[in-house]
Amino acid sequence: MPDHARKGIILSGGSGSRLWPLTASVSKQLLPVYDKPLIYYPLSTLMLSGIGEILVISSPDDLPAYEKLLGDGSQWGISLRYAVQEHPEGIAQAFLIARDFIGSAPVCLILGDNIFYAGGLSQKLALVSRRDAGATVFGYYVREPERYGVVTLDADGRPIALEEKPRNPQSHYAVTGLYFYDNDVIGIAEGLQPSKRGELEITDVNRVYLERQALQVEILGRGTAWLDAGTHDSLLDAGAFVRAIEERQGLKIACPEEIAFRKGLIDAARLEELAASFADTGYRRYLLELLEESRR
Ligand code: G1P
Repeated sequence: MPDHARKGIILSGGSGSRLWPLTASVSKQLLPVYDKPLIYYPLSTLMLSGIGEILVISSPDDLPAYEKLLGDGSQWGISLRYAVQEHPEGIAQAFLIARDFIGSAPVCLILGDNIFYAGGLSQKLALVSRRDAGATVFGYYVREPERYGVVTLDADGRPIALEEKPRNPQSHYAVTGLYFYDNDVIGIAEGLQPSKRGELEITDVNRVYLERQALQVEILGRGTAWLDAGTHDSLLDAGAFVRAIEERQGLKIACPEEIAFRKGLIDAARLEELAASFADTGYRRYLLELLEESRR
């Protein structure tokens, strides 16, 4: 990979307290969303954006389980590395932890519990990932904006204000947990002060870009699913959503083996090896069908 290729970060932190006792001994982003662990979804989003060098950040207790699950990424033709977040001190802390990993490259951060699904999304992400200056975030219309970072847009769709979990939101557009930045993000994160709740806020990073008129907001429109799995109900809903689409179409959402194969990151022989290493499950049969189809 060239040095200037965009790096990816998956922040898989948090105590998962709202999912207790599911998360008493298992990290939230390892919980199942139908047929695969939650972290496969954000990982797939990065792969579909064309990002091949990814750092997974989690707590000292949880990191070994991620390493066991995902390895060094070579099985999927990507590179995965790991770093510890000693104390959860905010999303923007990821850029301080990842400073050396990022080097002089642009970077994309995704939260480990964010699931994105929409037709045409990978093309859109690949385009955004090729922008070399400024920041791009995604706005998504939600019923309860007060649960999120919220962006207000002017009549031309340009961002004019950003607020983190406002009591009285000025708009219905939540800022999703997927962020593309140029290399300035490191300096911006270094200059942040902790918020009232003691965190380095990602919304404060985005506000610096907004003030520099370097923030683009892409709206993810109707027909896009942006799901988080932060509560028992939303975890179950996400699983039911994935199951409904996968059952109906016979196509998997967020299958890293498939993405790697379709993107040419691994060849047919490698895919066959991977499938052979699995037990006889629907997941394995899916990979074998992919192979067969590619040989027709
Ligand atoms: C975080 C961010 C928020 C963003 C959300 C997306 O909130 O602080 O701006 O809208 O992720 O998932 P958290 O989930 O940490 O409460």
